[in-house]
Amino acid sequence: MSTSTKPNSLEDIEECKLKQLQLTLPKILWLGSYPTYLYQGFWCPVLEPTISFQTHFQAHDSDIILASLPKSGTTWLKSLIFSVVNRNKFPDLSKHPLHTQNPHELVLQFKYKLYSKIKGCQLDLTQLPSPRLLATDIPYPSLPGSIKTSKCKIVYVCRNPLDTFISLWHFNLRCERDEIITPDMIMKYFEDFCKGDFPFGSYEDHILGYWNEHTRNSNKVLFLEYEGLKTDPYDQVKRLAEFMGCPFSKVEEKGNIVEEIVKLCSLDSLKEKEVNKSGKFYDFVENNALFRKGEVGDWINYLNPSIVKELLHDLQEKLKKSGFSFKYYQQNF
Ligand code: A3P
Repeated sequence: MSTSTKPNSLEDIEECKLKQLQLTLPKILWLGSYPTYLYQGFWCPVLEPTISFQTHFQAHDSDIILASLPKSGTTWLKSLIFSVVNRNKFPDLSKHPLHTQNPHELVLQFKYKLYSKIKGCQLDLTQLPSPRLLATDIPYPSLPGSIKTSKCKIVYVCRNPLDTFISLWHFNLRCERDEIITPDMIMKYFEDFCKGDFPFGSYEDHILGYWNEHTRNSNKVLFLEYEGLKTDPYDQVKRLAEFMGCPFSKVEEKGNIVEEIVKLCSLDSLKEKEVNKSGKFYDFVENNALFRKGEVGDWINYLNPSIVKELLHDLQEKLKKSGFSFKYYQQNF
């Protein structure tokens, strides 16, 4: 190597190491264009921001971290967490930030907005008010050490695999991509999903990582189910508030604050906001792609139950063997 090409700054050295790592890791091109690497046992579509997040992020005891697989209800939980934590700051719900800001603006995702090298995507963490509300899709074992060792709280939301997949499928159709996706490719994508070959997969490892930590320490990790929030939003939002250290008082409950927050954060309410109907918070997709049907069991409209049963077998067995079962969702074929 000539002296002129030798890395000289810390950044150059990090970039060099990253390139070497990329050469050694198994890789797929997600949607034909996003290099996605098998890193620490999961498929990582954003290697550089992930390593940067793992290396540099210092959790505060007061942080609240939302963790989820994409399409499991992240947007919903972002709006709920923000509204519950900041309810005294915005007592007049008619002037609430959710009327003018997309939930992803209010609870930032580490990979895109905080540890991304893309211009304009490196927001200063020190400027965030306390408690800092942040979100990640990285599996539990790969979280930065300080998230695990500090007293910060993790809210995890999961969703049944079939609706998660269908939601992901529709989202893929809306994303800018190099690969042309046609409806008949749904089975190929479903097979990949069941094998764990999709961003942040596998599904079962993601869920079990957070589930195991929740069973070890339920004060550290709250485990929520999308279907539970659909069935019983009132109780689930109260659970969320208690876990985050800001329970609703009897006076607030009598004043219907919980119901009002649930209503403000509902799919119908958010879908109607101008900010969510147009514009792009993420450069690869329009905001309105984040809000679709929000139904439980929508998968039946797209997948054949007998084929699904076979393909889903290994994933379900793995969950069952580990002692995990959904509280609010029963998979009947
Ligand atoms: P569907 O595609 O099944 O409609 P994520 O936010 O993790 O990307 O998940 C997206 C899914 O959550 C989509 O599911 C979307 O419609 C649904 N969703 C978004 N906002 C919601 C809300 N406020 N309440 C319920 N579901 C919501």
